Amino acid sequence: MKLLILNGPNLNLLGKREPQIYGHETYDDLVDYCGLCGMEFGVELEVLQSNHEGILIDLLQDAEEEGFAGVVLNAAGYTHTSIALMDTIKAISIPVVEVHLSNIMEREEFRHTSYIGKACVASFMGEGFAGYRRAIEFLVGDRRPESSLN
Ligand code: DQA
Repeated sequence: MKLLILNGPNLNLLGKREPQIYGHETYDDLVDYCGLCGMEFGVELEVLQSNHEGILIDLLQDAEEEGFAGVVLNAAGYTHTSIALMDTIKAISIPVVEVHLSNIMEREEFRHTSYIGKACVASFMGEGFAGYRRAIEFLVGDRRPESSLN
């Protein structure tokens, strides 16, 4: 099983960016963390980041053909603005799980609307990096081998 972990704008600045909200760990730390989750759940992961809405859309459109069984998406600021990304998630047939490091429902009101969430099969927020693990776990679901279920 292969999953795509897709990160949107400004997440490349983790560690430097508003550390009081997003913490001191860097984007590379996030990539390493996801790698450990991949090993834990026995799945192959590709972790990508783009600041560009169209690139995120292209990556989502191509994901199934590229062999991905699902996508973990932190669309960052596009979460609250991008009907185009929401349409893409609705248009593709593999499941997409929404993730946010912070709890968007406890922040400014403009962050309470998630267009992405309307099209995703599940959302995890406010748990920092652990939200990515929860999303991977969700996508792996009961496809995990018997031996790793305990
Ligand atoms: C974010 C929350 C968004 O509101 C914000 O625009 C981000 C990061 C998060 O991971 O908490 O860039 O998606």
